[in-house]
Amino acid sequence: MLRDSHGRKINYLRLAVTDRCNLRCFYCMPEEGLNWLSRTELMSYEEMLHISSILVRMGVEKIRITGGEPFVRKDLMSFLTRLSQLQGLRQLTLTTNGVLTAPFVPALQKIGVASVNLSLDTLDPERFLAITRRDEFANVMATLDALLKYGMEVKINAVVMEGKNTEDILPLVQLTKDMPVSVRFIEEMPFNGGSHQASLTWNYVQILNTIREKYPQLKKLQDPPFSTSFNYQIPGHKGSVGIIPAYTRSFCGSCNRIRLTPQGDLKTCLYGKNVLNVKDLMRAGTDAGGLENALLHAIGNKEKDGWEAAQHAAGLPVLNASMATIGG
Ligand code: GTP
Ligand code: 5AD
Ligand code: SF4
Repeated sequence: MLRDSHGRKINYLRLAVTDRCNLRCFYCMPEEGLNWLSRTELMSYEEMLHISSILVRMGVEKIRITGGEPFVRKDLMSFLTRLSQLQGLRQLTLTTNGVLTAPFVPALQKIGVASVNLSLDTLDPERFLAITRRDEFANVMATLDALLKYGMEVKINAVVMEGKNTEDILPLVQLTKDMPVSVRFIEEMPFNGGSHQASLTWNYVQILNTIREKYPQLKKLQDPPFSTSFNYQIPGHKGSVGIIPAYTRSFCGSCNRIRLTPQGDLKTCLYGKNVLNVKDLMRAGTDAGGLENALLHAIGNKEKDGWEAAQHAAGLPVLNASMATIGG
């Protein structure tokens, strides 16, 4: 079993398959995009499968594929099909902006993907364009429809931003009336490569108060183990509402996850540095045993948890890379 230096069981891998994105969310990247990696800098599908199979043998039970939109990478579906066949993998899931996902939903269902997290910050096409700088709202909504049609568990992630989409909080909550979705509001996290300054106004408490004011009957639900969100429900609604206190609270204590970036960097903390490059090891010919040792060592020697370390030093943490390169 894979344990980190704090004795926590690590059984959840977040695998970012591409640094490219077909949206330009202003809080994530500039209009011109990032300095995209070249194909040889990316892990190949073979490499991703190999390292995933080793991690699954070591105790990873859940893999979440992340983008941007993971489907901007060519032939993703055949990679997912092979990944879904790994012995010991219990759950394969996806976090996507939803722009290209709709046509793949039947195939996802077929290979056993039962749950998808969809990033959607607004239900207003004009505000969608203002936030993402791309006119793709209809495609994202088509993905939402398809996911529901095929009975997938859906979590909608909405980053709450002062002056941009706070008027969307209540309409998004209203979605839960007739749709069995979990709408989760995320505190915006600053990252130091962005020109945009995150506002701290819309923290967890402020978001909760806004929802409570309209829905005083809001009821706290029991949170699943390792949940990133605090979850609530409006009695009579089909769906539920969550708040992810990504910035003001720590959930380091129940962390069960590691991350691999598209170029093969292992991160033992969202806020931490890269601790190992598995692509370089594989390309240097390291065998499975060697990779396993390197992973055990890197995870077993995890430094202090990033969020808590930042608290002890200067205050709140700042991400050192765009979500598009970490995969959230
Ligand atoms: P589930 O598997 O459904 O629990 O998903 P998740 O919440 O782990 O994944 P998702 O990709 O939907 O992430 C939603 C948001 O949670 C991210 O954008 C982050 O804001 C936040 N988040 C996820 N993991 C971490 C983490 O390790 N630390 C912190 N601080 N925030 C995280
Ligand atoms: N703060 C909080 N969440 C963010 N995401 C991207 N950038 C940020 C940020 N600065 C979210 C996306 C997606 C998830 C993986 O990360 O909207 O839902
Ligand atoms: Fe937007 Fe996510 Fe793409 Fe960043 S990676 S531009 S947050 S959709």
